[in-house]
Amino acid sequence: MKTIQLPKDSRLCQRDFIFGVATASFQIEGSAESRLPCIWDTFCATPGKIRDGSNGLVACDHVNRWQDDVQLIQSLGVDAYRLSISWPRVMYQDGSLNQAGVDFYIQLLDALKALKIKTFVTLYHWDLPQYIEDQGGWLNRQTAYLFADYADKISRAFAGRVDSYATLNEPFCSSYLGYEAGIHAPGKQQKAWGRQAAHHLLLAHGLALKVLKKNSPDSLNGLVLNFTPCYAQTEDPADVAAAQLADDYFNQWYIKPVLDGEYPQSFALLNEQDKPGIEPGDLAIISEPLDFLGVNFYTRTVYQACAEHGFAPVDMVDAPKTDIGWEIYPQAFTDLLVSLHQQYQLPPVYITENGAAMDDKLIGGVVNDEDRLAYYQAHLLALDSAIRQGVRVDGYFAWSLMDNFEWAEGYLKRFGIVYVDYVTQQRTIKTSGLAYRDFIQSRRR
Ligand code: FCB
Repeated sequence: MKTIQLPKDSRLCQRDFIFGVATASFQIEGSAESRLPCIWDTFCATPGKIRDGSNGLVACDHVNRWQDDVQLIQSLGVDAYRLSISWPRVMYQDGSLNQAGVDFYIQLLDALKALKIKTFVTLYHWDLPQYIEDQGGWLNRQTAYLFADYADKISRAFAGRVDSYATLNEPFCSSYLGYEAGIHAPGKQQKAWGRQAAHHLLLAHGLALKVLKKNSPDSLNGLVLNFTPCYAQTEDPADVAAAQLADDYFNQWYIKPVLDGEYPQSFALLNEQDKPGIEPGDLAIISEPLDFLGVNFYTRTVYQACAEHGFAPVDMVDAPKTDIGWEIYPQAFTDLLVSLHQQYQLPPVYITENGAAMDDKLIGGVVNDEDRLAYYQAHLLALDSAIRQGVRVDGYFAWSLMDNFEWAEGYLKRFGIVYVDYVTQQRTIKTSGLAYRDFIQSRRR
C-alpha cells in the first residue's frame, strides 16, 4: 500500500478540512545556547533519565535550518503547521522579552504566512524555564500567573501572525508524568504533587486563555489534551469499574474542569493529603470557554481491577504495537471522539496529534514505512467514522513533521513522516509523508 484513501464523500476530503503537521520546540530546535535552560535540559543531564543518554542541545538543528524546514513543510502541501514556542527562548528571568528569540519565531511565522500555511501555535509544550522550576515549578501557584504574563507579552509581540493559539500541550504529561510518575522532567514523584501540578496547569490555561482572547480575538484559542481511552479487560463489573476509574484519573481529570467547571467524581476518592489546593473562583477561571479543543490520540490502555491501586494496566501481549510499544487500536479513536461528544458540549475539535513510531530504515535514499502509512490510513478512517456519527472535527495534524527528540526515549523512537539523519541533519520524506502529501493534494482536484 502506498496511498491514503478515504471515501469521496468524507468530511476529510473537503477542501476546508485542515491537514497539517506538528512539532514542538524542545524536540526539534537545538541551539540551546541562545535560550535560557529549561527543565528538560536539567532532566537530560541527569544520568539514567533519557534512554540513550541524549539531550536537546542540537536535536534537528531547526533554529539554523528553519528556512529549509519551511520549504519541506510547503513541499508536503499541508494547510497548517503546528509548532510550539520555547518560553525560555523568548523571555528573560526578569519577565522581559528576549527580542532575538521573539524575532526567530516572527520570521518563521511570517514565512509560513507568506506561503499561506496556517500557524497553530502552542505556548507550552513542556519546556518550563529552569528558573521557574527552581521556585517550585508547577507546584507553585505563582507559575500559573507567570504563564499568563508570558502569554500576554508573546501574543502582543506576535500580533496578527497566529491563526490558532493553544495554551498547553497535554497537561496530563506535564503533571502526571513530570510530578507524579517522575518519568518526565522535572522527575518529581508524589501523588499529591501530580494533582497539585495538574491544578496549577489548568489554572494557567484558564488565565492565559482569557488573555489570548483579548489580545488575539481573531485567532482560534484553545487547549490541547491527550486521551488514552481506557477499556475493561473483561465484562466483570470490577474490571469495568477499574477502567472507569482509570479514565477519570488519566483523561476526564483534564477535560471536565475545563468544559464543565468541576473535577470528575473520583476526586472525592483522593486521600486528604493528595487533594490539591484549590482557591475559590479557580474553576470559573479554568472553564473559560474554548474556541477549539485539540485532541491528541495514539493508543488505548486495557485495565483490570486491582485491590491495591483500584486499576492496573494489562499488557495486550498479542496485539499489534508500534515501535514504542503502544497498541495499534484505531477503533479507540472513534470511540473516544464519540464518547466525548456524548459526554460534553464540545467546541470544534482539531486532532492536534496522531501518528506512530516505527523502526524506520533509510535504504538507498528511501524509507519505505508502509507500517506507519497503514496506521495513518486506519486512523483517518476511524476519524471519518466519528465524524459520520456527529462529532465536529475541523482539522488533523500528523505527529510529526520529522523525527525528533522523543522525550525519555531520546532519539531512539522515530515518529516523523520525514526521516532525519542526526549525523548529517539530512531530511528524507518517508513513503508515509509522500502518501500524506498526495492525499492532501487529491482533495484539490
Ligand atoms: C505526545 C507529545 C509529543 C510527542 C508524542 C509522541 O505525548 O505531545 O511531543 O512526543 O507524544
